[in-house]
Amino acid sequence: MDTVNTTELEYQSGFGNRFASEALPNTLPRGQNSPQKVAYGLYAEGISGTAFTAPRAENRSTWFYRIQPSAKHPPFRQIGNGLLRTAPFDEVAPTPNQLRWDPLPLPDAPTDFIDGLITMGGNGDVAGHSGAAIHIYSANKSMDDRFLQNGDGELLLVPQQGRLALHTELGVVAVAPGEIAVVPRGIKFRVVLLDGPSRGYVCENYGQMLRLPELGPIGAHGLANPRDFLSPVASYEERTGAFELVFKFQGNLWATELDRSPLDVVGWHGNYVPYKYDLANFMVINTVSFDHADPSIFTVLTSPSGHPGTANVDFVIFPPRWSVAEHTFRPPWFHRNYMSEFMGLIAGAYDAKAEGFRPGGASLHNCMAAHGSDADTFSTASQADLSPQKISDTMAFMFETKFAVRPTKFALECPQLQADYYKCWDGLNARFRP
Ligand SMILES: [Fe+2]
Repeated sequence: MDTVNTTELEYQSGFGNRFASEALPNTLPRGQNSPQKVAYGLYAEGISGTAFTAPRAENRSTWFYRIQPSAKHPPFRQIGNGLLRTAPFDEVAPTPNQLRWDPLPLPDAPTDFIDGLITMGGNGDVAGHSGAAIHIYSANKSMDDRFLQNGDGELLLVPQQGRLALHTELGVVAVAPGEIAVVPRGIKFRVVLLDGPSRGYVCENYGQMLRLPELGPIGAHGLANPRDFLSPVASYEERTGAFELVFKFQGNLWATELDRSPLDVVGWHGNYVPYKYDLANFMVINTVSFDHADPSIFTVLTSPSGHPGTANVDFVIFPPRWSVAEHTFRPPWFHRNYMSEFMGLIAGAYDAKAEGFRPGGASLHNCMAAHGSDADTFSTASQADLSPQKISDTMAFMFETKFAVRPTKFALECPQLQADYYKCWDGLNARFRP
């Protein structure tokens, strides 16, 4: 139960497609979704991820054919939230300062994915379906008999250390550092650690579901291509015993006991599905002449806000790529932005910082907070030979959002917060010679 051979897993490829999958032949009814009698004595159950009348291009729903319906469970009782927090984020006054954190430690005591979720900050309002929360998970124990469903938003998982097998109602998604996975709102799953102690980042998106950005003049192909998104095939657990289902609902964790595994879906069809994506498949577009394109060229997925081009939250990466711009200061320039930027580092080094931003660490530069290359990077990049250079062995990412990211009390008081971060710009002395 604790290992998954990822080469044995099967996937269906595409983004937003209506897939169909059955673990036993002829599970899926033909011609209607809920016939009087479902094959094998299964129950038909629907889930909608959007309003029934959402536009066709955005409409997401799935039909499950399962051993027992989800409705059969004793009442949920509230349990502790640990270090998990939910919008509105009002524990402490949000600071305008630049913030950076060392990696959070891996746990000593047995800690599964749920118990290991630590909220660093967030924004919006969970009840109003706006904004997002940013968590870091740090776990050393698989969820064997414990399951999670999140009613508050979809979960974008960005593993940094250790592969995960996400056993979901729709099948198994194995995800490694360098890949991402998304579990839609409400889908039940458990997290198995394939490599022991594991850590990564989570964006809990309360807003409109993540989707591929429009490509405009880029055309039909480029950035993240739909065919590289993989969704699982049906795979069910027929297990009885003592199980716990945890339900995150309006900011709190609730739990109930089940006498069976809730991952009992034998067949399903629909487009409300978990998926994964290998960031190595991202086709990078950038200048081949001079100057900087805006980092929006690195957008993998976006959650729109309703305000055109102004995301509830974007997932943006800084992947390996060639740097060829002439007459150009190539690393990120000094800037203050409308959008707020929470960054993480999966591997390697980020080209705007000489040191201090470590894999597993994080930084936050909020709306209009000034930042950019540190003094050492400025000095090096100002003198650098501008022949083509490969930026390799690195993967940084950003959760970028229209709402300021309000840190949690934990994030502002933990020992991993770097008190001297601001000093990385100290050496940028006046060089003005009129
Ligand atoms: Fe920035």
